[in-house]
Amino acid sequence: MKVKKYLWAVLPLALTLAGCKSGGAEDTTKPVYLDTTKDIEERVEDALQRMTLTEKINVIHAQSKFSSAGVKRLGLPDFWTDDGPHGVRPDVLWDEWEQAGQTNDSCVAFPALTCLAATWNPDLSRLYGHSLGEEALYRNKNMILGPGVNIYRTPLGGRNFEYLGEDPYLSSRMVVPYVQGMQALGVASCVKHYCLNNDEEYRHQVNVIVSDRALHEIYLPAFEAAVKEGHAWGIMGAYNLYKDQHNCHNQYTLNQILKTDWGFDGVVVSDWGGTHDLDQAVKNGLDMEFGTWTDGLTMGATNAYENYYLSRQYERAINEGQYGTEELDDKVRRVLRLFFRTNMNKERPYGALCSDAHYEAAQQIAQEGIVLLRNEGNVLPIDISNAKRILVVGENAIKMMTVGGGSSSLKAQHEISPLQGLQDRLGGSVEVDYARGYVGDVGGNYNGVTTGQDLNDSRSPEELIAEAVEKAAGADYVVIFGGLNKSDYQDCEGHDRKTMDLPYNQDDLIVALAQANPKTIYVNISGNAVTMPWKDQVPAIVQGWFIGSEAGRALASVLVGDVNPSGKLPFTWPKSLQEVGAHALDAFPGVWREGTGIIDEEYKEGIYVGYRWADKNQTNPTFAFGHGLSYTTFEINNLRADKKATTDGNISFTVNVTNTGDREGSEVVQLYISDVECSVERPVKELKAFQKVKLAAGESRDVTLSINGRALSFWDEESNDWKAEAGEFKALVGNASDNLPCEVSFTLK
Ligand code: GLC
Repeated sequence: MKVKKYLWAVLPLALTLAGCKSGGAEDTTKPVYLDTTKDIEERVEDALQRMTLTEKINVIHAQSKFSSAGVKRLGLPDFWTDDGPHGVRPDVLWDEWEQAGQTNDSCVAFPALTCLAATWNPDLSRLYGHSLGEEALYRNKNMILGPGVNIYRTPLGGRNFEYLGEDPYLSSRMVVPYVQGMQALGVASCVKHYCLNNDEEYRHQVNVIVSDRALHEIYLPAFEAAVKEGHAWGIMGAYNLYKDQHNCHNQYTLNQILKTDWGFDGVVVSDWGGTHDLDQAVKNGLDMEFGTWTDGLTMGATNAYENYYLSRQYERAINEGQYGTEELDDKVRRVLRLFFRTNMNKERPYGALCSDAHYEAAQQIAQEGIVLLRNEGNVLPIDISNAKRILVVGENAIKMMTVGGGSSSLKAQHEISPLQGLQDRLGGSVEVDYARGYVGDVGGNYNGVTTGQDLNDSRSPEELIAEAVEKAAGADYVVIFGGLNKSDYQDCEGHDRKTMDLPYNQDDLIVALAQANPKTIYVNISGNAVTMPWKDQVPAIVQGWFIGSEAGRALASVLVGDVNPSGKLPFTWPKSLQEVGAHALDAFPGVWREGTGIIDEEYKEGIYVGYRWADKNQTNPTFAFGHGLSYTTFEINNLRADKKATTDGNISFTVNVTNTGDREGSEVVQLYISDVECSVERPVKELKAFQKVKLAAGESRDVTLSINGRALSFWDEESNDWKAEAGEFKALVGNASDNLPCEVSFTLK
């Protein structure tokens, strides 16, 4: 009896091994139990050689809006992706963009990534990826479609709020821990939008023309770091074209740079609707096709997915001998590897949704990312003990920001508004009054997720300003929450902004209030820089970002001084578009190519993006890259290098940082490298190291920053590789790109 029982236990395994031995000529009508004890690469080969052609084709294209097929016969489940970079998107219907109407898919809305970048704290990036990964696990999402790491090339870029700013080094350091934190849980990151997707309006038609130097020195480093250091398991191709090939199937960016030069072993996923050609999809590096509107099936139909390029068309082409299976097997290996790393990963934990830990993480990231831009007369922090009435003004004090903005829109379990945050924090001790101030976008719906807010207000701008000004008189403080709001043209996917100015008549409101009350504070809620013609009339200015579920709590804690702000700008804040290379050279959005539907966008400014342009042209921006104030003060001095000359670029620099104020605070020590003598033109300086350090009042500490040869290199278009030229270099150290008091020279031998 005993023997018989065990027989049944080993039989499937025996059959499997037998099948395996027979080279895959197994009965493909019977379920197969794959050996899960092998390592991933063995499991990939084992599964691959068992799969039929149809099964192989099925796993490389979508079967619904956000899922692709597994292989039931082999016990490989369907594969689920979901947006987005700062929270797990609510479920949509199988084949629709509309909500599925679930009641268990509300999430924590984490701060948008410009806020994460503004923390300059890679540890928070890891916490971010880990927390979002846990939410994804709980929702059984195998791959998160994020983070986005496209470079902030113009303040008009519609999706800059989703990205990590203008500097390739800062973006690189901040994306790696996010990917590692998430993938440690068995949830894939799908780093996007690879590459050169720096504006939205014509994102499906833009053909970017850019120098190899700018491509490698500015636009690729964050993706390169995500792949080489973060070991990202997914990369999303971008909609736009480069060298006339769509980036979802591009010989140059995918086959050559990503897969050959960088050794990427993961999966290239198309952006939704980014696949346009069968032959290119087969040969130019695309591995999973999602969201294609094949045959004009824009919103899907019962057999839409079978019409995809990498579906039956591809299978027919193979059966007709147009293609072998070499390209197919490479795609399928990558997809199987993704399966075994994620939903077939035996070590995956269960995850958690809306946990206290996630709210704590969201709040901490928000608090550390808020940037104190200006604080004349130390108006901030608000002195609660001496305040009786505070007037809060602005639509952004009450408007929910977690809904909208495009595919990163969320169904947040809660979102604390700035007004609510201040009311909760100030409680009965201080009266918190409110005035609308302006009416912006009263909508509140995205893909069927509604904010439930009725923001309608029929009053005229004049009436709204008059009410606010009247209430401002006699208030101890006026706190204005304005900015943008992720509605169309106001920091939103699919459109770029039309102007850098604040919308909805806010400038007039801000000027009127600053005149009515000397303690006026302006908090800008946006993912992009805006013009501030009134900057010198407003004593305190704060950049509040789009910071998600805990927004009001985080903002209130900084404004009243519970938290000492430590954020630094991840992008330059120009006075006007004319201070931005893309606009000064009339290189945005581009020139339509007659009769092709393609718009050629030449990045004429080359490597001179952000502060690199500001330095070259001495534009004296409103606020500089890396700028951010504190409620205490710091001194950075005594810079010394561990050597005068280096042969391989390895060199360390130590500075002393002292908190010279009367309260604890954090400072971000920034190190920029200047190549004093070089055969090619280079920026005045470039960020190559940074470290955030927390110091008690009066505390002093040495901070050491190390760099290597890559930090001294430029992309050499002759050798098509990185090159550091011997000669003199300078290290400039300080706490902002326009405040680098320490300098030391050294030589590269
Ligand atoms: C969108 C976005 C991309 C998103 C995808 C799925 O068009 O470009 O970021 O992940 O489609 O919603």
